[in-house]
This record gives sequence, C-alpha cells and structure tokens, in this order.
Amino acid sequence: MQNIDDTRKDLLARIAVSDAPRELLKVPELKQLYDVIKTLAPEERGAYGKQINELKLLLESAITERESSLEDLAVESIDISAPWDVNGRPLNLLPTEQGTQHPLTLELENVINIFTRMGFEAIESRQIDDDDHMFATLNFPANHPARDGYDTFRTEENFIPPAHTSTMQNRILKAGKSKLEAGGQIASISYGRVFRNEDIDATHEHTFYQCEGIFVSSTATLGQMLGTLRSFFETYYGQSLKIKTQPAYFPFVEPGLEFAIEKPAALGGKPGEWLEMLGCGMIHPNVLSMAGIDPQKYRGFAWGGGIERLVMLKYGIEDIRHFESGKLQFLRKFYE
Ligand code: PHE
Repeated sequence: MQNIDDTRKDLLARIAVSDAPRELLKVPELKQLYDVIKTLAPEERGAYGKQINELKLLLESAITERESSLEDLAVESIDISAPWDVNGRPLNLLPTEQGTQHPLTLELENVINIFTRMGFEAIESRQIDDDDHMFATLNFPANHPARDGYDTFRTEENFIPPAHTSTMQNRILKAGKSKLEAGGQIASISYGRVFRNEDIDATHEHTFYQCEGIFVSSTATLGQMLGTLRSFFETYYGQSLKIKTQPAYFPFVEPGLEFAIEKPAALGGKPGEWLEMLGCGMIHPNVLSMAGIDPQKYRGFAWGGGIERLVMLKYGIEDIRHFESGKLQFLRKFYE
C-alpha cells in the first residue's frame, strides 16, 4: 500500500509544475498500480480498488486545477511576437465564429443606432485636431483658465489629440448652415476617441470615447433637449428613468447643465442614487456666430458625454481600465 502513497505524492508534485498535466495519467507507475488488482485475492480487491479510485479522483481534480491556472498564465503572458504554438499548448483565444467586436464598439454602434433612428446624422470625430477647434471656436477666450480643465495633450507641432468631441461642433455647424437657410435643421452626433492627460484610476482613463449631439433650428428649446436625452437613456437602458439637471459651466453653452439619471434598481441602484451622465446646454450665441450662423434667427442645443460610463453602468463593470487593457478574461465575458 506504501506504493499508492508514494505515487500520489510523486504525481501531485509533477502535475503542479507540468505544462501538459493530463499526460501524467499515462505514466507507467499508475498502470502498475492498476495491474496489482489482478494479483490480489478477491476479498482484498474492494479495499484496494477504492483507494485507487480515490487516487484517480484526486489526480483528476489536481489536473483540472493545473489546467485552469495554465490557461490564466497563457492569457497573462501572450507574447504577440511569438510563433502560434510556442509553448506547445493552444493559446486561450476567442473563437473567431463568436465574433471579435470589442464591447465598446458594440455599444457605440448601439448608441449611434438609437440617435440615427431619431433622425440624427452620425459623424466620427477626429483623433488629431487643433487649438482652434478644441478651444477658440468653442468660445474659450485665449489664456482662459477653463482651458486647463481639459488636461489636453499637445504634439510638438502644437496639434491636439482632442479632449472632447465638442471639437466637431464648429465643423458640423458650418456644414449645416445651408440646411438651416433652406428651412431645415441641423441634427448631428459625432462620436470617437478623446484623450486627456490625467492620472488614471478606476473611473479615469487617458483614452476614452465620447458621443456629442448638436441640434439647431429656428425654434430649438431646452425642453426638446431634455426630451431627446431622456428618450435616448430610456431606450438604451430599456426602462423608464428619473432624470435631473444642475447648472454647470462650459464656455460653449448658456445655460450649461449637468444631466443625471437615477441609477435603475435593476442595475443595483438605490432610490436617490444619481449618476451624472453628461454635460449639455443651449449653444452659446458666440459659437453659432463663429460658424456663420445668426444667433438672432437660430438657436440650438448640444450635449456630450463618455461612452464607457454608459457601458459600465449597463454591465456593472467596476473599472474603466478594463476597456483598453486587451485582457481576454474581460472580453470573453461579452461573448459567453
Ligand atoms: N465637451 C464637454 C465635456 O467633455 C461636454 C459638453 C458637450 C457640454 C456639449 C456641453 C455641451 O466636458
């Protein structure tokens, strides 16, 4: 019987460090233990067989445990420059037939679809822009401290990877001017990556996504804006929501507001738990003028907010850094 104990200790030690632990079920030591059964007297076989079975169960569970830690290891340490099967075992990749769209892409498309169904045109924002679109045409006076609030990166040539999608406002307004003059309206969203030079933590990333909305007509009102936003959020979360606003300062809107929703009970919210979702307001007359639109004749509203925040609430994601981490453990959750 000593033999079973030795084999158990020996195999458990080998499984714990093996790259192919299941292969160890084929070692001759185990086969020899099985062979002993035939040599035993019938009354001895039951007790011996029971021990062998226990050993097998123990080895099985040690193997499964080792396999799953190898899987984690494979995910943690993918060397993208290495040959496909460099470690002699399959990498733990997403099956291609389940698709490879990133959850942010998926949800951004969802957001775009909701707004295009409401009649908004969708335009992707730029990933490199200039001071004029980041600040000047948005009514930030030169050297105004509000510029510092945006923690902007700058290239050596003084270009700016935009810190918000509002950089698209002047372009959208200029392009839409003729529609207004023909008696129509401007209804556009712009979406894309934005960049901020700030410390990262569970709720702050240097790179994230925003979606911006712009509506201009001869009769646009703040009430229309609140209705549009409520309708968007209720469609996105598939339920009715309580909303509230509070005053906020952005140089390009007047009045400016922060828009909050009450965290839905279905998503773990308690009554009175408000989540700030975006900034919004009536487009400042100076912003309209700078795009050649007469603020005496036309008025508009705009809003802008982060996509990650929406998605985090929807799926209960606790850390914004997961999105750009490239971790398969995170991505896989969206395809199970
Ligand atoms: N661009 C602002 C931000 O990122 C949000 C905003 C957009 C506010 C449009 C008002 C109108 O903080």
